[in-house]
Amino acid sequence: MQKSLILNILQKHKGEFVSGQMLCDSLGVTRTSIWKMMQSLKQDGYVIEAATKKGYRLVDDSETYNAHEIAKELLALGISLPVLFQKSVDSTNIWAFEESDRHDRILLVADEQTLGKGRRGRTWISPLGSGIWMSYLCKPDIRIENASMITLVFALSVAKAMQDLFAMDVKIKWPNDIVYQGRKICGILTEMRSDTDGIKAIVCGIGINANTTEFPAELANAATSIQNEMDVQVDRAKLIAKIMQYFDICFGKFLKTEDLSELKDDYEEILANKDNEVYIIEHDTHQKAFCKGITNRGELLVLDEDGHTLQIHSGEVSIRGIYGYV
Ligand code: BTN
Repeated sequence: MQKSLILNILQKHKGEFVSGQMLCDSLGVTRTSIWKMMQSLKQDGYVIEAATKKGYRLVDDSETYNAHEIAKELLALGISLPVLFQKSVDSTNIWAFEESDRHDRILLVADEQTLGKGRRGRTWISPLGSGIWMSYLCKPDIRIENASMITLVFALSVAKAMQDLFAMDVKIKWPNDIVYQGRKICGILTEMRSDTDGIKAIVCGIGINANTTEFPAELANAATSIQNEMDVQVDRAKLIAKIMQYFDICFGKFLKTEDLSELKDDYEEILANKDNEVYIIEHDTHQKAFCKGITNRGELLVLDEDGHTLQIHSGEVSIRGIYGYV
């Protein structure tokens, strides 16, 4: 894409003027197209100065979050993955399914979601310029009954990336919430389309409260952000790249066996439920149990009050001390 090429040149010469003629010659386009691309880059957040007879100069590229920057960070970690970006979208999961005929594997990122979807029909608040709202679309050649484990693979990858970049002692609340000191920092919603031939598309939607500083009153005890907890301004493109780097490794291990046997130890090490009293919530009933860990297929392994072992496949499981539950 020519806009990316022009940006690469400007970034290579950051702070110096690059002549308009040199840009025209390198890209084989007219001065008018260069001017148009500069306007578009400015709209993306790049601060670019233009001076007669000198050309263009990139002054500041620190406030940018777009497909180019994300792809660049991915490539820097050796990951070649196409990226689509929109400033505002209803939901990246909805958008991903709209794109699913055109791509086999792609990452879709938005700076804002107006209709962010959470699990169990809830909404996911996704304000502009603060969080990571992204969906990974893939069409893996795996058995349909193994697909739901991908969501645990992603949870582990997100947790590892946060530990790595911010030295954050995050935990996983089964199956796929990332929590820090009892408050939620990331949620994952995986959706699948399939037919009698098998999987058509899997979309893993990941929402991370990265630089969010304020939450609605009803979430104040239950949610937090990386910035609030670690006092850092998160470079979202770098965090996305780190997550996808870990995902590449973890998904590779998953594919070997199509289960979590190679990831179970790592997952259990940061599983908030493990060795804790939990409540299995089904309809109106709360059943007390004790969590032992997970199975190789990602089910939660618990002992009920009579000492029977149960495998929980889905549903809500609450833990004391998490999300304001006491
Ligand atoms: C949860 O309820 O914990 C899951 C939240 C998932 C939110 C993410 S944000 C990106 C993607 N697009 C959506 O509409 N939802 C997911």
